[in-house]
Amino acid sequence: MSKYILAIDQGTTSSRAIIYNPALQAIASAQQELPLSYPQSGWVEQDPAQIWQSVSTSISLALQQANLTPADIAGIGITNQRETTVLWHRSSGKPLYNAIVWQDRRAAKLCQQLKDAGHNSMLQQKTGLLADPYFSAGKLSWLLDNLPTARALAEAGELCFGTIDSYLLWQLSGGKVHATDASNASRTLLFNIHSQQWDNELLQLFNVPAVMLPQVRDNAAEFGLTDNRMFGAAVPLLGMIGDQQAALLGQACINAGMVKCTYGTGCFAVVNTGDKVLHSEHKLLSTIAWRLNGNTTYALEGSIFMAGATIQWLRDQLGIIHQASDSEVLATGIDYQQTELLVPAFTGLGTPHWQPQVRAALFGLTRDSGRTQIAAAALRSVAYQSRDLLIAMQQDGINVSSLRVDGGMTANRWFLQALADLSQTAITRCHTTDATALGAAFLVALQLGYVDKLADINTIWHSDWQLQPELSPTLADALYQRWQRVNAALVALNM
Ligand code: G3P
Repeated sequence: MSKYILAIDQGTTSSRAIIYNPALQAIASAQQELPLSYPQSGWVEQDPAQIWQSVSTSISLALQQANLTPADIAGIGITNQRETTVLWHRSSGKPLYNAIVWQDRRAAKLCQQLKDAGHNSMLQQKTGLLADPYFSAGKLSWLLDNLPTARALAEAGELCFGTIDSYLLWQLSGGKVHATDASNASRTLLFNIHSQQWDNELLQLFNVPAVMLPQVRDNAAEFGLTDNRMFGAAVPLLGMIGDQQAALLGQACINAGMVKCTYGTGCFAVVNTGDKVLHSEHKLLSTIAWRLNGNTTYALEGSIFMAGATIQWLRDQLGIIHQASDSEVLATGIDYQQTELLVPAFTGLGTPHWQPQVRAALFGLTRDSGRTQIAAAALRSVAYQSRDLLIAMQQDGINVSSLRVDGGMTANRWFLQALADLSQTAITRCHTTDATALGAAFLVALQLGYVDKLADINTIWHSDWQLQPELSPTLADALYQRWQRVNAALVALNM
């Protein structure tokens, strides 16, 4: 009898498939790295066919590893990089253009125009977000305005817009289902998080035809069946959720006030705010954590665009490491007195600056600055930025006494101690770096009846490591002030 759960975690730099037993223990996992392309300054794209290929290969490898067939899977959950925008033909499923990745800044000008025209507070009020190219609406608007025939086809109902969840659902269901979930919809700048509807005023503002939008469903729901030819069996798709919201669930942050931070390609600190939309005074985003049986749980989020991606830059662009774990070896021994400071604004700055045009800079180089110092500065930049997010949360009245962390970078112990030291916060590491996939699998387990309530996640989640700050608060504050001065200087330069 089929009983296993398959979670698909489609992230920015890799796709992963993890198989869980009914007790939600991972029994097999496979991963495929995914390339990005940078056709112009500030542009970040991916080939949708490669995204799909990497997902289907990961699934096959995970099934093989577990010695299972598709028919052994009782339900599938999808979690994904959010905001990344795909446009495809309804008849053939063929994409019109590359996926425009969340880090892409090409809609910066449009967003500036919207801010100048005074739309920011309406956008924030309705969507919880800001006029920033990070979100899907600007990317979609660019596609409709720049691809010949796209607008006419869209208006005729011949095109589908989707974030990666929708695109994968479309592929897996053999083109039968065009849907998304409330958490992913809440990242588009087109969805009203209060009324839980696509919002006509926003659609008009971005000039988006409603006919191309996916239907929005609860996070645990009947999303359709996999296509037999595509998947090898007709398996129900039972959960979809944006990756950061999935990690909030996987980290068992199910009560208001609980905070997690995930270190993947970017870094996202999310606090559960219960059934209330809290509007930040300090540039955090209000967003939908999940909607279950029509009941919505909200969250506040701080978003950093470069975390693991900074380490990838050390590897792929600078060539100073061969693999991510080398950064830990290199950085060990570099103390906090180092003068080198990296502001990794490779794709602009997110919370709390929201400056899409600013670009990265390395400060404080000396004659002996080399790969070791740069690796340490890169890792520390993620810790400093995390402190930026925690401060914004504190200023909004959220007290973070201990931070639950997960994601690939949490395998790096040197980084985690730097995080505890520089943010002066106790760190609690999740038992799995895959809290994201666990969150998606948990939704499927809810839908299958393997668990009967949200609180059951507490019996699965546990911490495998806790750290306390070891650096003096005075030194941590002095270092952080230097970080803030350097950021302010970079923002003032706006280049
Ligand atoms: O909002 C973007 C985020 O969902 C990307 O996640 O895991 O690729 O860093 P990740």
